[in-house]
Amino acid sequence: MESYIIESKKKKSRLPARLDFAQSATGLFLGLFMWAHMFLVGSILLGKGTFHFIAKTMEFAFLSDSGQGYPIAVFFAVAGVFTMFIIHALLGVRKFPITWKQHRIMRDQMQMMDHQDTNLWYIQVITGFIMFFAGSIHLYIMLTHPGDIGPYLSADRIVSGNMWPLYLILLVCVELHGTIGLYRLCMKWGWFSGKDAVKSRENLKKLKNRLTIFFLSLGFLALVVFIVIGINHKDSVGERYQKDGAMGAVIEETHQGQETQAIEETKE
Ligand code: HEM
Repeated sequence: MESYIIESKKKKSRLPARLDFAQSATGLFLGLFMWAHMFLVGSILLGKGTFHFIAKTMEFAFLSDSGQGYPIAVFFAVAGVFTMFIIHALLGVRKFPITWKQHRIMRDQMQMMDHQDTNLWYIQVITGFIMFFAGSIHLYIMLTHPGDIGPYLSADRIVSGNMWPLYLILLVCVELHGTIGLYRLCMKWGWFSGKDAVKSRENLKKLKNRLTIFFLSLGFLALVVFIVIGINHKDSVGERYQKDGAMGAVIEETHQGQETQAIEETKE
């Protein structure tokens, strides 16, 4: 069928090149988004107040008089990312070995060549396939609960909502897939190739490995912190974090400190 199409077309189609470009562009967007996303989620390492402040800022809480924010803003952001995710996945499916025969041929050739970048491509196929399911579940939950992001609500979802195994799988897949994808983009389009292409490839590969380790560690630590918060919050599932932003938390803590001091002074 493929050879029939190629031979029968008089004018060569530009469609495959355009689809390749669209796949690279959506991949670049998602890869950079994931780095930003991991820093935002990782803010839990700085404390519940910081994560709450960031979640509220994402809802443009600073624009509302009540300080409640607009979860619809998060809804539109998730809808945009979800659309990119679906387009990227659809474009990726074109390259999947879909029959057992295709898969067998590919594996045999991989063993024969023993080429590291081809092996990286195979990791992308596997992690991409898993992310189809794991990523869609996470994005659907975020789409339908845009106002339920916060130190307690997120931790409750992870522990009491049993999301932690899915996040663990998704974390490993997304970090491998994302950094390999960005590395392959640099190779494909010749970015940062410099004067010595072999040396730049080595350097990019080192950078890729370091970024994978960094984002995996950040995500793993954040997950552990969420799990600890979620276990301690098991008796109050669904209760929201009350303090109004990081500054609010600081002010509230200062007030509490002053109150305690005043009580102690009265006792004396
Ligand atoms: C705009 C879209 C997105 C939003 C608003 C969002 C939001 C969040 C939030 C709030 C958490 C903390 C846990 C929770 O509240 O359930 C989280 C965790 C996570 N998200 Fe997303 N997410 C988005 C897109 C994605 C995408 C596209 C992926 C990858 C396919 C992804 C992968 C993950 C992973 C792996 C974790 C666990 C991180 C950790 O180890 O702590 N997210 N996300």
